Amino acid sequence: MNKLLPHMKKYTAFAILCPILMILEVLADVAIPYLMSKIVDIGIANRDIDYVIKIGVIMVLASILGMVFGILSAYAGARAGFGFASEIRLETFKKVQSFSFANLDNFTVSSLITRLTNDCNTIGQVTMMSLRMAIRAPFMMIFALIMSFTINASLARVFMVSIPLTAAIIALVLTKARPLFMKLQTRVDRVNAIIKENLTAIGVVKSFNRQKHEEFRFKERNDSLRDTALKAISIIIFVMPVLNLIIYGTIIAVLWFGGQQVVLGTMGSGELISFVTYITQVMMSLMMISMFFMQLLRGIASKDRILEVWNTDSEIKEIEQPITEIKNGSISFDNVSFKYPGSKEYTLKNINFEVNSGEIIGIIGSTGSSKSTLVQLIPRLYDTTEGKVKVSGIDVKEYDIEGLRDHVAFVLQKNTLFSGTIRENMQWGNEGASDDLIINALKQAQAWEFVSKYEDGLDHIVEQGGSNFSGGQRQRLTIARALMKNPNIIVLDDSTSAVDMTTDARIQQAFRDLGDVTTIIIAQRISSIQHADRILVMHEGEIESSGSHETLLEISPIYREIYESQEKGVIGE
Ligand SMILES: Nc1ncnc2c1ncn2[C@@H]1O[C@H](COP(=O)(O)OP(=O)(O)OP(=O)(O)O)[C@@H](O)[C@H]1O
Ligand SMILES: [Mg+2]
Repeated sequence: MNKLLPHMKKYTAFAILCPILMILEVLADVAIPYLMSKIVDIGIANRDIDYVIKIGVIMVLASILGMVFGILSAYAGARAGFGFASEIRLETFKKVQSFSFANLDNFTVSSLITRLTNDCNTIGQVTMMSLRMAIRAPFMMIFALIMSFTINASLARVFMVSIPLTAAIIALVLTKARPLFMKLQTRVDRVNAIIKENLTAIGVVKSFNRQKHEEFRFKERNDSLRDTALKAISIIIFVMPVLNLIIYGTIIAVLWFGGQQVVLGTMGSGELISFVTYITQVMMSLMMISMFFMQLLRGIASKDRILEVWNTDSEIKEIEQPITEIKNGSISFDNVSFKYPGSKEYTLKNINFEVNSGEIIGIIGSTGSSKSTLVQLIPRLYDTTEGKVKVSGIDVKEYDIEGLRDHVAFVLQKNTLFSGTIRENMQWGNEGASDDLIINALKQAQAWEFVSKYEDGLDHIVEQGGSNFSGGQRQRLTIARALMKNPNIIVLDDSTSAVDMTTDARIQQAFRDLGDVTTIIIAQRISSIQHADRILVMHEGEIESSGSHETLLEISPIYREIYESQEKGVIGE
């Protein structure tokens, strides 16, 4: 909790105001039965209508005040609770943004979504309840107890039985409920995971006719969520009538003993009426306390899940005084080997090569030969396991991460656009860039030809993930976005696979025209890279050979094989 609390700071005023107003509300609530007993025992007994009116007016005022304080306190509590939740959500979001790819692999995206939404909400709600109930209930109980002891101490002894009994039941329930709430959250995670997987891959599910299968998987997890929720709630369901029984039992006992005292004349009937009201207030407070603890358990479960995120640090760390300036786009890999976190096998083995600034390098190799893995090491999406990756002659670990990534523009294999306009998407790479700059980048990436056809041009809407564009259009837009960064190094991971050959050739030409920008192009098609200054042929995590297109045709059997199969493909068409 110590780690979360400082984020309440902005809302401290509300957090303090809420319980203060609450106490005032309680005072008004507690005064009402007392005033009522006065009306019955003095006003009505003496047939003193003036007294009845006087106390009656005070009673009305007290209840209005109680209402006003109640509303204000509820409002302050809500401000503090929801405010707190939004701060925590923001903080968690920032943390997740700093996560490395490896962290994301660990947590899974859907669990992070549940934590950011569900768990943060729970913390907010529990805070709100705590501010109100945790203060209201004990105060109400203490005041009501004091009042009932003042009215009739001998009668108040019934509490000696009913309070410990209730407390025991609550304690029993709490120990049972705690593990269930933690389980409940993980069940929600599991359901969310499947929802996310299915919604993002709805096309695949449909085209493979897997709806039935997916429905079955969903049903199984959904049922398990339902059962866990039922178990958790049934504890509450069980507790409520039992507590009610105790309350009514106590009231009956009071009416029995108190009734005898009224008959004997040692107690006023008004006193008895107010006494019963105080008993109800005491017991209600106890119920509230039990509800509060139950909520608190849910809150603790959510708090633990949030702190788990906060306490996870990206293993990609910056050094104390990082270098911010990157002089040129030269790259070198010195004896680099790499294992994915948690994996036993090396995915890259002994990689050695150098690239001069401004060179165009092609990378080719069968699927799974670790091409993507290799280039991900350049902007430190992952860190090397052994060896060094250098940019402009300096180990990438010595750079300021943000600066490094600004200079290395990456068009990922799984590229996506964000919801918004085309202009907004382009400005992602370069905040506040002018339309001229954007259009220039779009032209280089051969995207202007279709963007210029939209009536609304750069204002054309991009749906989430860029789903309203074709695969090839999306690829060209993401290339343009990368160019907007004005990078020293640009990496295209299979970024023109969905673009036709002619357009592809034009994009390649545009890259050659960029000048001093190192370009690394990963491709499946030889035609995408054959004009590169140098081509690396990857095979099972190693560089099999490197050289120009002509050299490789002579020395590399793998390259020749790819070339021949693609030539045949072309002839066959
Ligand atoms: N996040 C990851 N965690 C663990 N292993 C991974 C991860 N990403 C890739 N791998 C493994 O690393 C190996 C190389 O994958 P990589 O994506 O680099 O291949 P690739 O050459 O880019 O293939 P493709 O041409 O299909 O894009 C594969 O065996 C893959 O299973
Ligand atoms: Mg790849």
